[in-house]
Amino acid sequence: MKLAITKTLWLGKEIYIFDSIDSTNQKAKELAYQNAPHGILVVADTQSQGRGRRGRSWSSKAGEGIYMSLLLKPNLAPDKASMLTLVTALAVSKGIEVFIGKQKAQIKWPNDIVINGKKICGILTEMELEQGNIHHIVIGIGINVHNKAFSNEIVNVAGSIKTETGMDISRENLIEEILINFEKYYELFLKTRDMCLLLQEYEALLVNKNQKVKVLDPLEEYEGIALGITNMGELLVDTGMEKRTVFAGEVSVRGIYGYV
Ligand code: BTN
Repeated sequence: MKLAITKTLWLGKEIYIFDSIDSTNQKAKELAYQNAPHGILVVADTQSQGRGRRGRSWSSKAGEGIYMSLLLKPNLAPDKASMLTLVTALAVSKGIEVFIGKQKAQIKWPNDIVINGKKICGILTEMELEQGNIHHIVIGIGINVHNKAFSNEIVNVAGSIKTETGMDISRENLIEEILINFEKYYELFLKTRDMCLLLQEYEALLVNKNQKVKVLDPLEEYEGIALGITNMGELLVDTGMEKRTVFAGEVSVRGIYGYV
């Protein structure tokens, strides 16, 4: 892959590109400890140990997807970092929309992008602290772009931009569009350090909005209607008895009849 990001101000100005690597998140983390600056981008054509959320792996075949990680070194309270996953989801979704036109790339709270109800992108945000402060944050983004088939375990949930829209879009162009959008939404996020200025756009793309959801909290499972998100990026769920806020952490949200 050849990649040059020319249309951003600070993000992806320094790029580390690999044909093959264990995990771009892992590489970005190593670079962070070697004093790599805020805003570098790590991209690979294939990953041998692509990581997903909750200890899962992320299938990362050569030539099929985008596997990339952004390194951020923000001056931010650690409890605000999870909102960066939502900022990223918005940037990815808007970036994809530029290429696929009317068909919407929606967001499944907090961090999946779906087209036609199929997951085509996952985001893995990893934070490292130093004496209680953020040392760095790595935002890993995996997007199924050209994939035509998926393994049995994920075939019901997963899709790609190709399978869901029929389009073959350039990975390089999509990466740049996502970075342009990330810069824009990140700047808005930093103005208030919450989702206040992004809330409307995020909710307009939220596939769960006004839908029945099942909240898989390790402490307890419950169902309700997802109303939207709060300024802190939590999902607001009306259980019928009360309105509850769901924090992104370890909680997973499912549709009542399946993945969305
Ligand atoms: C999820 O479980 O939905 C998150 C998947 C995140 C995958 C991406 S691919 C690039 C980056 N490097 C990794 O090892 N994981 C993330």
